[in-house]
Amino acid sequence: MLVSTEQPLPTLEVEIERLLPGGVGLAHAEGFTLFVSLAAPGDVVRVQIDRLRGKVAFASVLEVIKPSPVRVEPPCPYFGRCGGCDFQQLNYEAQLQAKVEIIRDCFHRIANIADFPEIAIHPSPNQWQYRARANWQYDPLTLHFGYFEAGSHRVCDVEVCAVLLPDLQNTLSDLRAHIRNDSFPGAVKNVEAVADDEGVSMSPAWDGFETKKVSRRIGDETYHFSADAFFQVNHELLVPLVHEATRNARGAVALDLYCGVGLFTVPLARRFERVVGVESNPTSARFAQLNLQNAQLESARIITARVGDWLSRKASEFEAVDFLLLDPPRAGAENVVINGILARRPREISYVSCDPATLSRDLKKLLAAGYFLDSVAAFDMFPQTHHVETVVRLTARF
Ligand SMILES: C[S@@+](CC[C@H](N)C(=O)[O-])C[C@H]1O[C@@H](n2cnc3c(N)ncnc32)[C@H](O)[C@@H]1O
Repeated sequence: MLVSTEQPLPTLEVEIERLLPGGVGLAHAEGFTLFVSLAAPGDVVRVQIDRLRGKVAFASVLEVIKPSPVRVEPPCPYFGRCGGCDFQQLNYEAQLQAKVEIIRDCFHRIANIADFPEIAIHPSPNQWQYRARANWQYDPLTLHFGYFEAGSHRVCDVEVCAVLLPDLQNTLSDLRAHIRNDSFPGAVKNVEAVADDEGVSMSPAWDGFETKKVSRRIGDETYHFSADAFFQVNHELLVPLVHEATRNARGAVALDLYCGVGLFTVPLARRFERVVGVESNPTSARFAQLNLQNAQLESARIITARVGDWLSRKASEFEAVDFLLLDPPRAGAENVVINGILARRPREISYVSCDPATLSRDLKKLLAAGYFLDSVAAFDMFPQTHHVETVVRLTARF
């Protein structure tokens, strides 16, 4: 019998039924629901219980007794320790299928949607060496440089990261050489780096590593940004992502909330008479302005503000909004933002999200207020991880 007593907690043999939001495997045994990390659906595994919360057990795999047909040998030597990639044990087809199931699960359970359109997922052209952005951690006590270990703030020392673009891997190797030579600034604990076609921008800047302006051409548009501004990590999927988020968008007035450096603002400004982008990071907002200026798009302006504040302050600025796009961070849109959107009654909403759970929470409110779910599309922006980008299109039915 599995009981919550002293350490060590018992081990169990279980079969993984499917993968859940968060990427964990679901299993049941002895009246408990188990969430098993780094599992594959169909695996029979011996697991160790790491933590109990009521009838829920959080577990990790000790031994694969019978591997799932979709299980593969994780190629990365840091797999299981590094917090970065938690889907390397799955073949690529199974990764894509699990991500669609994760979205469906959130829509059912969190948004209470019984029927929704078919979810097509766009695979990533590159399953490895796709990341154009990295956030590295440095621990001056251990001299470890890499990513946080799963569920902790211990730094996993990473020499080679298989999902980085080659330019970023070179930067990682250069920075590690500075640590070995004792020429790395001890005060720097966290490094952001982004790559474009010509080089790498890094923040903070020091000794030859500059926070320089870089640029990337996506479809017909050129975007400038730097390591201090947000830009999507997987550039190969951005043409279809922008297309899906803005297709058929027409009218006089469009809002682009959480606009970053203007990935969606620029194409929207080509179609609408008036576009407003709202972004709280001043560096990103400046790049968005620059990107609009370079494209000679005068119909759009960028507001540097928190979306919730701006929507509350400017309650009456727009009588009629035809199209509203929002692309918030993982936490989704705050209540004040959803209420501000509903107050403007946009005819169409395009919600771009990197977290199906918070998307579903927000979707529930928008559907309850009279929006209809037209389409859902998924983009595998983050291969080898459970993360997935979703674009949901809604139209007003009031
Ligand atoms: C997921 S990114 C999307 C950016 C852009 N749409 C893109 O695809 O490149 C979210 C953006 O929201 C910004 N942000 C975060 N919280 C915000 C807030 N409360 N108000 C305005 N912008 C915010 C971040 O700086 C970031 O640029």
